[in-house]
Amino acid sequence: MLFFGALVGAAVALVATLIPWLPDAASSQAGKIDALYWAVTVICIIIFALVAGVSVFAVWKFRAGPDDTEDGKPTHGNTMLEIVWTAVPTALVTAISIYSAVVLVQVGDAPAGTRVVNVMSQQFAWSFEYPDQKVTSGDLVLPVDRPVILHLTSKDVIHSFWVPQWRMKQDAVPGIQTRLVITPSKLGTFPVICTELCGLGHGLMRSQAVVMTQEDFDAWLSKQKQAAGGGGGGGGAADGKQLFLSQGCKDCHTLADAGSTAKVGPDLDAGLKGKDADFIKQSIVDPNAEITPGYQPNVMPQNFGQTLSQAQIDALVKYLQQATQGG
Ligand code: CUA
Repeated sequence: MLFFGALVGAAVALVATLIPWLPDAASSQAGKIDALYWAVTVICIIIFALVAGVSVFAVWKFRAGPDDTEDGKPTHGNTMLEIVWTAVPTALVTAISIYSAVVLVQVGDAPAGTRVVNVMSQQFAWSFEYPDQKVTSGDLVLPVDRPVILHLTSKDVIHSFWVPQWRMKQDAVPGIQTRLVITPSKLGTFPVICTELCGLGHGLMRSQAVVMTQEDFDAWLSKQKQAAGGGGGGGGAADGKQLFLSQGCKDCHTLADAGSTAKVGPDLDAGLKGKDADFIKQSIVDPNAEITPGYQPNVMPQNFGQTLSQAQIDALVKYLQQATQGG
């Protein structure tokens, strides 16, 4: 009976592990995470198949015959069986805990001098700050094969940073800083997904991670640095287009000048025609004041008035006027 269950368990586990369930692994941490994931999954499959196999067998073997109205014989425990079903799970869970702790330490390891990128999350957008260059971007751009430390936090509620191909996932919590080490191992563009139910726009809270060669990354970073005004001017030198790209506006709105085609919120090329600066400013700091027909309130963050400086809001308003009305 036990043998039959074990056989079924081993066969199901073999078939399950041969199916490519996970997306391509694209970080050097992914291999360790996948090995742990599969070890735990195979243990679960074998135990499930064992229990289900024994149950099905027992239901069939000890079923009542057509004329059998007798009660089953009372049984009173089995010491050996009880020791086994206590000891085996205890040993398995302890082993999984130790293995997990070892992997957790290994994937959190970063050499001294590793680049730090600050990850800011808010309802419902990500932004990524490169503190050494004072550059902020709406996409997480990284060089391939270099470790990076992400410092994550949130402006409002709990979000969770996840790039499936990197396997690494971490909560972004207001008031504290969490940490994640990533070493991208493949060039390409990967989705950044929020995996914590954070409000109406949760399902739309996406960005992208772009992994480039070191040369392309250096060129990108210096270009961003120039666009941000060299970092010398702080908020006062804020460039409206740069803000539009880095503050998540482009992830929801269509704006030809910025090359964005998102359709989560109203199309700005059409919607801002003939609107004055006051209307644009109100739409940024108090988005619920006037809702475009066909759209829902509370989807756009309502705290840009607090998270952006006055100079940044003015720059954004000016840019949106120029971009949609040519003057
Ligand atoms: Cu942010 Cu879900």
